Amino acid sequence: MEKIEVKINPVSASSYPIFIGENLLSDLYEIIQKYTNASRFLIVTNDTIFSLYGEKLKNESAQFVILPDGEIYKNMDTLQRILDKCMELNLERKDAIIALGGGVIGDMAGFAASIYRRGIDFIQVPTTLLAMVDSSVGGKVAVNHSSGKNMIGAFYQPKAVIADTNTLSTLDNRQFKSGLGEVLKYAFIEKNCACQRDFNFLEFLEVRKDEILLKNTDIIEKMIRICCSLKASVVNKDEKEKGLRAILNFGHTFAHAIEKLTGYEKYTHGEAVAIGMTMIFNVAVKLNYISNEYYERCINLVNNYSLVNTYSEEFLPYEFYDVMLSDKKVSDYKINFVIPTGEREVEIINNIDKNIILEGI
Ligand code: NAD
Ligand code: GLY
Repeated sequence: MEKIEVKINPVSASSYPIFIGENLLSDLYEIIQKYTNASRFLIVTNDTIFSLYGEKLKNESAQFVILPDGEIYKNMDTLQRILDKCMELNLERKDAIIALGGGVIGDMAGFAASIYRRGIDFIQVPTTLLAMVDSSVGGKVAVNHSSGKNMIGAFYQPKAVIADTNTLSTLDNRQFKSGLGEVLKYAFIEKNCACQRDFNFLEFLEVRKDEILLKNTDIIEKMIRICCSLKASVVNKDEKEKGLRAILNFGHTFAHAIEKLTGYEKYTHGEAVAIGMTMIFNVAVKLNYISNEYYERCINLVNNYSLVNTYSEEFLPYEFYDVMLSDKKVSDYKINFVIPTGEREVEIINNIDKNIILEGI
């Protein structure tokens, strides 16, 4: 079992460990007890995950709220259901919420924990690759609104993240690949994360592709560890996205527009991110920010992992641009684009010509 520390600004007292390893669900309550004083737990999950792992986590101190499965349920109504359950159980401030699931469950359960009685402890137990490498770490919690994705939310850090890699064995191939969308993101922004490690994650993903796609346990665990370390390094420097953290949104401005325009059902979040990254690479090469050679290398990586093979050009670029303008990261009507400017390096730029962006789409 590997342990990584997220050490956010010491005054905020929100440092916490990320555990990554096999069979951690078996020791879940034992691990959790070191990081919270809670005596009662509400496990927030969905029907798919409950049927796979619910039995294993039944415990006299834990109750479940089982939500419907899907991004379309990541909304205020479902949030209300979690809060109603907290009220029904009369959870106290010292009790805790456990988020058992992918990013949808993690984001909603964390948001509920942040507002119930002005905040109770919560623990992230990610069960998708995407949640293990990204969404369970860093404290962004939210629900969607009809105006856009993750429009209502907070920054609220968990007390611990416990990623049992055995749960990946039940994840279908599409969802596994969806997680790889966020994994590739880290390779493209690695230098900005400044982990002070002499390591090349892009090369790792190229060389280890077959083992990753065959789900080699050691390599997958190493890959999750690298992503969590990179994310922790960024979040430790900029918890509330005042600057640096925005690099984690690489490909996401496009992705959120794709998800919204297709009703959150056609593409998974990771697929949309992969498409979004391709779009911004198109823009970067047009602007000569990156060499053709690096462009080809990155596009090949995305293609070799078969991340965007479901994409068909179905968006009217102008409509697409307008949706991007409603993204929550827009400031003074300017879209902040995270754009590649060198090998494994990006910059945040808000004055890119609209026509160049439209060509990239
Ligand atoms: P998801 O939570 O919808 O899970 C994908 C599917 O896999 C679901 O059907 C789920 O029931 C199923 N599933 C989960 N674990 C399983 C398992 N072990 N075995 C079998 N099936 C399983 O999707 P996701 O990709 O995990 O997360 C996407 C969400 O994460 C989006 O809403 C996105 O906005 C959010 N996100 C948040 C952050 C953040 O920093 N908070 C970062 C990235 C993404
Ligand atoms: N996934 C973007 C962030 O955590 O900041």
